[in-house]
Amino acid sequence: MALHDQSRKTASGDSGKAASGDSGEIASRLLAWYDAHHRDLPWRIAPRELARGIRPDPYRVWLSEVMLQQTTVEAVKSYFRAFVEKWPDIEALAASPTEDVMKAWAGLGYYSRARNLKACADLVARQGGRFPDTQAGLRELPGIGAYTAAAIAAIAFDQPAAVVDGNVERVVSRLFSIVTPLSEAKCDIRTYVERMVPATRPGDFAQAMMDLGATICTPRRPRCMLCPLREDCSAITSGDAERFPIRLPKGEKPLRRGAAFVAVRGDGAILLRKRGDKGLLGGMTEVPTTGWTARIDGATTDAAAPFPGNWRPAGRIGHVFTHFALELDVFKTMTDGAAPAGHFWSLAHEISGEALPTVMKKVIEAAIPGATKKQRAH
Ligand code: ADE
Repeated sequence: MALHDQSRKTASGDSGKAASGDSGEIASRLLAWYDAHHRDLPWRIAPRELARGIRPDPYRVWLSEVMLQQTTVEAVKSYFRAFVEKWPDIEALAASPTEDVMKAWAGLGYYSRARNLKACADLVARQGGRFPDTQAGLRELPGIGAYTAAAIAAIAFDQPAAVVDGNVERVVSRLFSIVTPLSEAKCDIRTYVERMVPATRPGDFAQAMMDLGATICTPRRPRCMLCPLREDCSAITSGDAERFPIRLPKGEKPLRRGAAFVAVRGDGAILLRKRGDKGLLGGMTEVPTTGWTARIDGATTDAAAPFPGNWRPAGRIGHVFTHFALELDVFKTMTDGAAPAGHFWSLAHEISGEALPTVMKKVIEAAIPGATKKQRAH
């Protein structure tokens, strides 16, 4: 994923930089702030202890991160203390009956986490008691998704993983004034974080972002005057940090765009192809189209046609899917060429019998009115 059209998506109109400073400086400023203002949390090794050579215990990091999934720091503290007192290491947890773990978890909610916790402990203990030290290895374990794997890899194993939770999304969308709605901006936000993660102290960087989001860059009434990144922050410059992240009003769907190409042969046949079996409209038939993306990136014009031709605009159609609305610019050309690889000609009287989803019927109708309606053979 490239941030090539960043100027269109950040209110600051720059090319991926915040109001001032670069990614390296942002990380340095944040780490200096963390050294002085980090929260003392029962599972955390403070910077001064890390500097003395004390290493985080992957077991405690894993346990805390699983507990913190969908639960607040305050709610987790006492559970974490009780767990590590009762089960100080992974072998102890693995040796304990699931029922005891479930009982100790009672009140923390989302109980599948506790079952996964026990299954994960059993597996890791069986494999020698050591957690994998990569995100990919960690993701193989029960109950560890992308976020938790990144957090453990960064905090326990010093891997430069991008740890992106809701707090971090808020910080980054303010830092760069990301005007794209959050649901569509997640990929860009991850890229920003990947760029910011420092080679040294990636675990502290991840925790510093979390602390900044929890204590300074709060959802409402952020304490911008105390923020270590106020000089880097694009939203503070415009005085409306609280506006970010931008959220779509409930019910409104994100808009994607693309182009669709209706090639017509002299005998009225239309060029079609079959979509891949997986994903949206899997296995259905379509005219050639560009990707359907949230951005306007130049790939929605006739320049993206499947073959050169005299492509003429034939209107724009709209269609609403469950998770997004789509606008397709339709282009049409006449041709007598052979069908390109992966495409086929559908004769005029066969079109209505093709597996065309509604959106594709709309496209074809825009280019050739009546083409998808049942036609009598002459
Ligand atoms: N939320 C999720 N993981 C966290 C951590 N390690 N420290 C603080 N808050 C968190």
